[in-house]
Amino acid sequence: MSNIESILTETRIFEPTEKVKNSVAITEAVLAEMHKKASEDHVGFWSDLAKEKLEWSKPFTVGLDDSKAPHYEWFTDGEINVSYNCIDRHLETKSDKAAIIFEGDLGDVQTYTYKELHDQVCRFANTLTAQGVEKGDRVIIYMPMIPQAVIAMQACARIGAIHSVVFGGFSAEALRDRIENANAKLVITTNGSRRGGKTIPLKGAVDAALEKGCDHVKKVIVYRRTDDEVEMKEGRDIDWMDAEAGMSNYHEPVPVNAEHPLFLLYTSGSTGTPKGVQHSTGGYLLNAHLTNEWMFDLNDNDVFWCTADVGWITGHTYVAYGPLSVGATMLMFEGVPTYPDAGRFWQVCQDHGVTVFYTAPTAIRALMKFGADLPEKYDLSKLRLLGTVGEPINPEAWMWYHEVIGRGECPIIDTWWQTETGAHMIAPFPITPLKPGSCTKPLPGIEAAILDEEGNELGLGEGGLLVIKKPWPSMIRNVWGDEERYKSTYFPLQDVPYYVVGDSAYQDKDGYFWILGRVDDVLNVSGHRLGTMEIESALVSHEKVAEAAIVGRPHDIKGEAVSAFVVLNVDIPNGDERTALVAELREHVAKEIGPIAKPDDIRFGTNLPKTRSGKIMRRLLRTIAKGEEITQDTSTLEDPSILEQFQQQK
Ligand code: WTA
Repeated sequence: MSNIESILTETRIFEPTEKVKNSVAITEAVLAEMHKKASEDHVGFWSDLAKEKLEWSKPFTVGLDDSKAPHYEWFTDGEINVSYNCIDRHLETKSDKAAIIFEGDLGDVQTYTYKELHDQVCRFANTLTAQGVEKGDRVIIYMPMIPQAVIAMQACARIGAIHSVVFGGFSAEALRDRIENANAKLVITTNGSRRGGKTIPLKGAVDAALEKGCDHVKKVIVYRRTDDEVEMKEGRDIDWMDAEAGMSNYHEPVPVNAEHPLFLLYTSGSTGTPKGVQHSTGGYLLNAHLTNEWMFDLNDNDVFWCTADVGWITGHTYVAYGPLSVGATMLMFEGVPTYPDAGRFWQVCQDHGVTVFYTAPTAIRALMKFGADLPEKYDLSKLRLLGTVGEPINPEAWMWYHEVIGRGECPIIDTWWQTETGAHMIAPFPITPLKPGSCTKPLPGIEAAILDEEGNELGLGEGGLLVIKKPWPSMIRNVWGDEERYKSTYFPLQDVPYYVVGDSAYQDKDGYFWILGRVDDVLNVSGHRLGTMEIESALVSHEKVAEAAIVGRPHDIKGEAVSAFVVLNVDIPNGDERTALVAELREHVAKEIGPIAKPDDIRFGTNLPKTRSGKIMRRLLRTIAKGEEITQDTSTLEDPSILEQFQQQK
C-alpha cells in the first residue's frame, strides 16, 4: 500500500470537561460495560438493545440470521412500524413537546408538536393510501428541506411504502434514473424551493424526468412552497392540500417485518450508475435511535440541529428518523449558511437555543473564512455538543469549531459512517478523549479492522483498507435489484465475510482511527459522494466530447474539487470560444447530474495519458490537477507528449 500514507502528526488530546463527564447519560463506566457485553455476545448485545429501545408489534425471537450471508437479517421474525416508534409512542408523555422547529429561508418559523406531527403524518398516510400507494410500493420524494419532506417520509414508513428521497439539487436526468431504477409509483415534490432569498423551481425537473418512459409513475403530489405557478398535468398531478382535504388525522400504523425495506437511497459507486442502497426497518431504526442517544446524548432539554439535507443519509438518520425515535426536539432549516449573511447558522442556533449542532467540515471551513467576529455576535452559550460528518475534518477547522463555536468546552463528535452503514460506526461518545482529525474508536458492537492488499490484518500505525468484521443491525441489505453488485462491491474478499468500506485508514498507537480517504474512484466534494464515472459519462454525452477523465484535487473549502481532462471530437478552441466551451460543458454536467458535480477546471488534450494497454493513468492526471511536477515514471505511457498539453493549461 505504498500509496496510502498518513501525513498527519496530530498529537493534541482533549479530555472531556468535568461538566460533560457529570452531565451525560453514557459515562465511562457505562461505555466500558457496553464494550464488554458486545465483545462477549455480539448478537445478544444488539438484540437486548432492540428489545429495550424499540416497541415491537410482534416481538422477535431471532437476533441475527446469517444463513444467507452476505445477506444478513436482524430480528427477522419481528414486526415493527417506524412511524409508530418515532411519533405515537411519545404521545402519552410528549404530545405538546416540539418535535420539529422549522425556520424557513426568509426567517419564517413554524413548530410542530408531537401531536401535530402525528396528525399531519396520519393525514398524509391516508392521502397516500387514497392515491393507491400500498405496502412495498416505491415513492420518490424530491423536496427541499421543509417539514413536509419529513412528513412524507414518515407517512411512507407508516403504510410500509418504500421511499427514495432524491436530493433537490439533482437534475431531471439524475432524477429520472432513480425513478426508473426504483420503478416508483408516485412522486412527491414541491412547486419550488426557497434558498438564499430566491425561489428555485423544482416541479419542472419532475415533469422533464417523467416526459420519457416512467409509465409506472401514476401520480405526482405537489406541495406549494412558493408562490410560483406550475403546470399541473391533468389526471397525474395533484395539489398536496387538495389531496389531503377531508383525510382523517388518524391512521393505524401498518406493522411490517423487521427486514421490510424502509427506504432506498441512491449513492455513487466507482462504476456504473448510482446504487440504490436498500435499508431495513428494524435494524436501521435501532442504530438510528442508539446513535442519537450515544453520540448526541439527546434528552428532553435539547434542541438538536443537524444541517444535512433529507436527500442524504445524514438527513435520514439524524433528521427524519433518529431524533424523533428518541423523542427529541429537532430543528430544520430551509436556507443556506450565508444568507442573509455568513452569521445565519449562528443566528439560528441563538434564536432557537440549539444545544447540539451537527454539520459538515466543508461548512465549517467556509464559515471560518469570515472570521470569528460573526459567530461572536451571537449567544452560542447553549451549545453543549458539536458534531461533524462527511469527510475527514482538518485539525485547523476542528480547532476553530472547538474554540470559536464551542468556547473550548464542547466535545467535537467526529462521526465516521456511510450511506451503507445507516448510522455512526466510528465516533466518540461525549466523554471520549479527542484528537483533532480522528473519529476515535468504533462503537460498541462494531468491529473495525485495517487490512493490507492481501487481506492480512495490519497493526497499529499501518495504513490500509478499512473493513467491518461483523454484521451490524443498520447495515445495507442489498443494492436495489442488483444482488451481484451488492456482493462484489461490499463483500469482495475471498476468505472472510468482511464488509469492505472503500476507505483507507490507519489506527494510531492508542487505537484511534484516522480516515485517509476513498480508495475507489469516488470523490468527496463538500461532503457529497460523486462517482468519477458518472461525471465522465455526463461529459461524454455532450456532442463535442469524445473522451473524459475526472480526478479529484485538494480544495480549501470543498475538501476535494473536480478536475476534468477532456478529449474533443472537434478542434480544441482558443480564446473566447474556449471559455464558452468550458462554460457549456460545466452547464452540461449540471444538467445531467446537478450543480454539485460541475467540474472546477477543464483541460483539453488530443488524447488522455494512457498505458499501452489503454488504461488511463489517473495518478498522473492527479499530479497535473494539483499543479505539481511529475516525478512518476512515465515510460509506460503510449504518448508522453500528452502530458505537456495538459500541463500548459491551468
Ligand atoms: C467519508 C456520509 C472521514 C468517507 C455519512 C465515507 C468521512 C464517505 C467521515 C461516506 C468522517 C464520512 N471522517 N471521512 N467523519 N464521514 N466520511 O455515503 O469517505 O455520503 O466512505 O455518507 O464519506 O459518504 P456518504
